[in-house]
Amino acid sequence: MNLCRREFLKTGLAAGSLLTGAGALMTSCSGITRAKLTSVNASDEPIADLDKRHIAILNYASLAPSGHNSQPWIVKIVEKNKWIIGADPDRRLPAVDPNNRELMLSLGAFAENLFLAAGTFGLKAEMQIIAKTSFDQEIIEVTLKESKSESYPLKRITQRMTAKHGYLANEIKKEDMTALSGHLKGRLFYFPRGTEHAQCIEEGAVENFRIQANRGDALQELAKWLRLGNEDAKRHRDGLTTEGMEIRGFSGWFVRNFFKPEDFMKPRFRRQGIYLTEKLAQQGGGWFIVNSEGNTVADWIDTGRRFERLALMARERNIAIHPMTQHLEEKAGQKQIADNHDANIMPQFVLRVGYLSKYPDPVSLRRPVSWFVKSG
Ligand SMILES: Cc1cc2nc3c(=O)[nH]c(=O)nc-3n(C[C@H](O)[C@H](O)[C@H](O)COP(=O)(O)O)c2cc1C
Repeated sequence: MNLCRREFLKTGLAAGSLLTGAGALMTSCSGITRAKLTSVNASDEPIADLDKRHIAILNYASLAPSGHNSQPWIVKIVEKNKWIIGADPDRRLPAVDPNNRELMLSLGAFAENLFLAAGTFGLKAEMQIIAKTSFDQEIIEVTLKESKSESYPLKRITQRMTAKHGYLANEIKKEDMTALSGHLKGRLFYFPRGTEHAQCIEEGAVENFRIQANRGDALQELAKWLRLGNEDAKRHRDGLTTEGMEIRGFSGWFVRNFFKPEDFMKPRFRRQGIYLTEKLAQQGGGWFIVNSEGNTVADWIDTGRRFERLALMARERNIAIHPMTQHLEEKAGQKQIADNHDANIMPQFVLRVGYLSKYPDPVSLRRPVSWFVKSG
């Protein structure tokens, strides 16, 4: 949940007058970002059975998006070229994702990055879903086979991020829609701003955000993933940082130094989160809905993989996509969708979409490979 900058500035300036002369505190004026911690190609610590190529592939995989940046993946190295992508039970989000649907979507995005990166390193990644339910810990078996190198611009993976601010109102162009729907044929729906359906989605996004902002368990879960101070962020390298929530400059400094995650649960902050969500929901060129064919583990993984392709192509074209997932998480939202659509409509992502005049550099943190890999 983001915060209203204007409010922060007001509070911040009042407090700032008490801090005159406290120059030392200003040293941590910018929040920790990915660029300050690692470079994507930096070789990680050595890991038994894996060479530099494998570690680089896993590094690219880990740049996938995930709900609250929880990075719910574990990779078991069965042998050098046989891995199992698993779900880390400590990284579940039971309050907002009780069925692990979003967790599976995130693992799908991870798997797609892995597949693309492996191809460029001359390894073909064959994937087989081995989970019977979304609560299993072992989800996808990956077998790597030496093959001809594929060309794919890995920069798309390193440069993708979930940008939220500064969306332009322009409608998404036809040629961009053709490129974006390449891996989602028949499952990507675009509702341009100003259409009746876009208005409904906007209202649903805000209304369900409001419902969730008043749900104690969801707020507590969010607080658990907030990494407000730079030291906390460096220690965990996951979750939501001030930079990741786009709380920058003086406001970011103020939050990092004076707020605790529990403060985000207070009524004033919840109101600010709703206010900001209303403002963001009004920006951009409309909404994307991504549907799946079914609601099995395999469908969710497959949709996560296709979603990641969409996100990477969007990055290439300076188009931002912002998941606003509360409509799919809240019971009221689910009911509203079920009551108004055929049973074969199974939305998995609600995405605000818009062109950016300048696509920002990614800032959200990632754990190093050695933190999420375990030897079989
Ligand atoms: C399944 C899923 C659900 C998400 N839901 C939301 C959401 O409701 N609101 C939001 O701001 N971001 C949402 N995100 C984006 C994540 O917060 C983001 O991917 C994560 O913080 C990492 O940042 P990055 O995408 O910039 O690398 C979602 C991402 C995924 C994969």
